[in-house]
Amino acid sequence: MPKNKPGEGMTVLVTGASMGIGVDLAECFARDGYDLILTARSQVQLKAVADRLSSTWSIKATAITEDLGAPGGGVALAGKIKKAGLTVDVLVNNAGYGHAGAFDGSDAATQLGMIDLNDRALVELTQIYWPGMLARGRGGVLNVASTAAFVPGPFMAVYYASKAFVLSFSEALWEEARGTGVHVSCLCPGPTASEFRARAGTGATRLGHTAAVMASMPVAEAGYRGFVANKRVVVTGAKNAIQSALAPLLPRGQILKVVRRLQSPA
Ligand SMILES: NC(=O)c1ccc[n+]([C@@H]2O[C@H](COP(=O)([O-])OP(=O)(O)OC[C@H]3O[C@@H](n4cnc5c(N)ncnc54)[C@H](OP(=O)(O)O)[C@@H]3O)[C@@H](O)[C@H]2O)c1
Repeated sequence: MPKNKPGEGMTVLVTGASMGIGVDLAECFARDGYDLILTARSQVQLKAVADRLSSTWSIKATAITEDLGAPGGGVALAGKIKKAGLTVDVLVNNAGYGHAGAFDGSDAATQLGMIDLNDRALVELTQIYWPGMLARGRGGVLNVASTAAFVPGPFMAVYYASKAFVLSFSEALWEEARGTGVHVSCLCPGPTASEFRARAGTGATRLGHTAAVMASMPVAEAGYRGFVANKRVVVTGAKNAIQSALAPLLPRGQILKVVRRLQSPA
């Protein structure tokens, strides 16, 4: 039978799908006929998102809770997915958190947990599902980094570095996948309305006070469209795109001063 929608017959795993950008990314895929596997820690919210999207878009949505920041979280999640008899065609690595403030005196578990979730779990899941994608010659990975990926971030140092890792890793995989039919895109949002900023404590910074904040659906739409087109890097918003393009051209010392000022208390 011919497909009515481009995603029919395929399943996308979206991490961090209980709230924020992940919910809207999941909706973009559901609208195009993909079945969903949604994961995060908050069972009630996750189930509500799965119920809403499956009934709105007539697709199958499975909610599976997992703490991806815990060691082996990715393997544990993949085990549950396999047990449920599901296959992952597209992986959206969206779950992540940030933490604002000086590195000195900061909590080690918070800093290292950020690397565990933003980077380690992302690589762990990608490594599990990558061979199947290459073998099928379709599907792919949509990683969520940030405009923070383009510059070092004094007073939010580990978060910026964790997102630089995501950007570098994604671009490298994009090249490795060339000609295979597998897509790789890195979505780099600027400040976006979600729980992220409250959780990260960025509200008191100059950036938190002055930055233009985008709604999460246009951010997700840009990421989804970019993934469909196999666009290597997607920066949301014209101003963010210009700043990210200019960043490598400016002296690093000057950039550090600008970001330091933006990440300092207002
Ligand atoms: N909002 C922004 O300004 C902004 C800008 C640039 C990039 N980003 C990136 O966009 C992505 C999504 O952020 P958001 O803005 O949508 O933030 P959010 O509203 O805080 O959502 C984060 C998602 O990640 C999940 N999550 C957090 N810790 C987890 C863990 N240990 N295991 C599994 N899931 C976990 C959360 O669910 P549970 O709490 O239920 O687990 C939630 O679903 C992140 O990677 C973030 O770095 C955000």
